[in-house]
Amino acid sequence: MRKIGVITTGGDAPGMNACIRAVVRTALYFNYRIYGIKRGWWGLLENDFSELKSSDVSGIISKGGTILKTLRCPLSRTEKGLRQIVKNLEKIAPDGLVVIGGDGSMRASFEISKRCSVPIIGIPASIDNDIAGTDETIGFDTAINTALYAIDKIRDTATSHERVFIVEVMGRARGFLALNVGLASGAEIILIPEIRWSKKKVLNKLLSFEKKKSSLIIVMAEGAGSSDELADFLSKNSKIKVRVSKLGYIQRGGSPSVDSRFLASIFGWEAVNLLKNKKKNLMCAWVKDSFRTVPLNWPAKHRKKLHEKLLKIANIISGP
Ligand code: F6P
Repeated sequence: MRKIGVITTGGDAPGMNACIRAVVRTALYFNYRIYGIKRGWWGLLENDFSELKSSDVSGIISKGGTILKTLRCPLSRTEKGLRQIVKNLEKIAPDGLVVIGGDGSMRASFEISKRCSVPIIGIPASIDNDIAGTDETIGFDTAINTALYAIDKIRDTATSHERVFIVEVMGRARGFLALNVGLASGAEIILIPEIRWSKKKVLNKLLSFEKKKSSLIIVMAEGAGSSDELADFLSKNSKIKVRVSKLGYIQRGGSPSVDSRFLASIFGWEAVNLLKNKKKNLMCAWVKDSFRTVPLNWPAKHRKKLHEKLLKIANIISGP
């Protein structure tokens, strides 16, 4: 019987479990033996894996996190580590590997694919949505909804106390999450790494809003600078009461949204179909509402474009 593997690597994202479920059930449907590799690349370095049955993925579509566990593995970036991974992978899953993970996972997958005979299919999963080649990654939509749920509550306190809140959201070095969250939450100011901003300009904008609105929310990407320093500057240079709320890891957890489950299920199904059709070293992508593939090294070679127009729209429709 042909043998394939599935692995989750890098930061977890809501919908990874739904994707594992789709990969496992599709593989079994096409009569593959399917192995779940544990703790990301570490599982391939240490031969930590187990065969998965249909019942192993029962009831996980609605669960956040990943039943396979995940790890950021620096060894996967060394030649020695890569060789060890390849050696074990060729024994465990000679007919294919499905890698569910973020930007770094796609890069590592490509490095492994250059050294190995096993066909690899990447599935983009990250709350950051920073992977070039796909409009959306698994988990992005859920993270937006989680942040919105939190900001709607923060808005209540901001309004009652007539305070300004700086809400810091994740996204690593990019502003996709902050931009979408900012637009959908009605934030008065959105700060992202891709657009230059200054503390002084933020202060002037807040002052222009002050008398007209009872609460003000600044959504700030973690990669855009220090939210604490900005709060400090605003407090010292005005009478505005400023508070910082860092949403942090709650954005990575929780039950996946419809969008995340949908994407996860389609990607999982398509990834196994690609292996069955002898395709190799591709990444699944969702472009203009349909399934596509791009070469596995696409994310390493391209920088994903951010739709700056969204920022302009958000700025106009947030008032005063
Ligand atoms: O890539 C997902 C992400 O949550 C980023 O938004 C964040 O910068 C980073 O991971 C945090 O990484 P770690 O899990 O290693 O703390």
